[in-house]
Amino acid sequence: MEIARYRPGEDEEPVFQGYDVPLMADWAVLDGLNYIKDQLDGSLSFRWSCRMGVCGSCGMNVNGEPRLTCGTFLSEYGDGPVRIEPLKGFPVIRDLVVDIDDFLAKLSSVRPWLIREGEELPLSTEYAQTPEQLEAYKQYSMCINCLLCYSACPVYVLDPDFLGPAAIALAQRYNLDSRDMGDRFDVLNLDEAVWGCTFVGECTRACPKHVDPAEAIQRYKLTAALRSVLPWSKR
Ligand code: SF4
Ligand code: FES
Repeated sequence: MEIARYRPGEDEEPVFQGYDVPLMADWAVLDGLNYIKDQLDGSLSFRWSCRMGVCGSCGMNVNGEPRLTCGTFLSEYGDGPVRIEPLKGFPVIRDLVVDIDDFLAKLSSVRPWLIREGEELPLSTEYAQTPEQLEAYKQYSMCINCLLCYSACPVYVLDPDFLGPAAIALAQRYNLDSRDMGDRFDVLNLDEAVWGCTFVGECTRACPKHVDPAEAIQRYKLTAALRSVLPWSKR
């Protein structure tokens, strides 16, 4: 495996370092990285947690494509070498670890929670939903914040102010929830938000959870356009 290394205070810029890793049929790329960490070089830094495509922390560029390293098998790349780099578009903190503060700020800007009005706590009733109401937003709720879509998006890589695919998809997850009473027009109807998307569709191709952020963005463009002629329509 060829791994991008960047050790602040030691490397002026990222350099590649090669490691011999056994090619095991059932090893994911993450297993290869853990082999390096455990057996060859304990100084290698990378993020991971669940090893099952749930936590979203193991995203890296694998041979130039953003992938979950726990869900990508080494055997896909034959005898190698497999080149592992940090996710493109984010500042590198060390080796394969990127700084995601910008994404977290963007995510909170869309208010990714149920907004309710005129309620007293504690609540005394449940908010029941029909299967159809659940289906309306369920796809967007599958996001694991892995950021592969940002790394794949040519708009975000060129313009870091772009709100980006996952934040918009998660805004839609709440916009389309029958329990939500919020309005996210102010953060979505902007040139740096839905109108910045040129519908390349790379975000949807990169997404390991089939969230389809490109569709979420196009749907909100329609909502925003309708709202300009029907100002009372919110969704
Ligand atoms: S939309 Fe898909 S690719 Fe983007 S952060 Fe969510 S799960 Fe990852
Ligand atoms: S380690 Fe959790 S998604 Fe890969």
